[in-house]
Amino acid sequence: MREVTLKDIYEHPITQKYVRRSGMGHAISVSYHAFHLAEEFNVNPDRAAKAGFLHDIGHYEWYRDGKWDYQLYRDFDIHPIKGAERAHKLLVRLGEDKQAAKEISHAILFHTESAIPDGNFELKSLQKVVHLADEKDKQPGDSHHYRNIDRQKEVELIEKLDQKIDKT
Ligand SMILES: [Fe+2]
Ligand SMILES: [Fe+2]
Repeated sequence: MREVTLKDIYEHPITQKYVRRSGMGHAISVSYHAFHLAEEFNVNPDRAAKAGFLHDIGHYEWYRDGKWDYQLYRDFDIHPIKGAERAHKLLVRLGEDKQAAKEISHAILFHTESAIPDGNFELKSLQKVVHLADEKDKQPGDSHHYRNIDRQKEVELIEKLDQKIDKT
């Protein structure tokens, strides 16, 4: 039995604040993609779905003169680092298995190269899954961060994915 469900994570105020900031629709899609890729890569589907759901929890808002500024983002963003730490704290607080919390946190850290020094990293399978899942949901102009779905639909999708995970 899992210690923590996606619904537990979804409902937490930290998730509502930070995952919503970077796009709840994107987070949910990436969690589904990660769940489906998990089988192909032979990784734990629960950890894949959670890491996919939380991968952008570290986003900060880069505004200049009231407008989103991509140059500031490109120059100064550390969202994978911030997200790895934030997700880890949240999962541990919720009572997540400590090994799972560490693996999920690492997958968030490596989901994009934006904050990691250049180099040839040998990614672990779970890290690859979250990276690929994120890539699958990307849309031109970063509009995947602004795709809105209504809250009832969000809850339905989260509950449906929890049921799929429980069946694995
Ligand atoms: Fe990201
Ligand atoms: Fe993303």
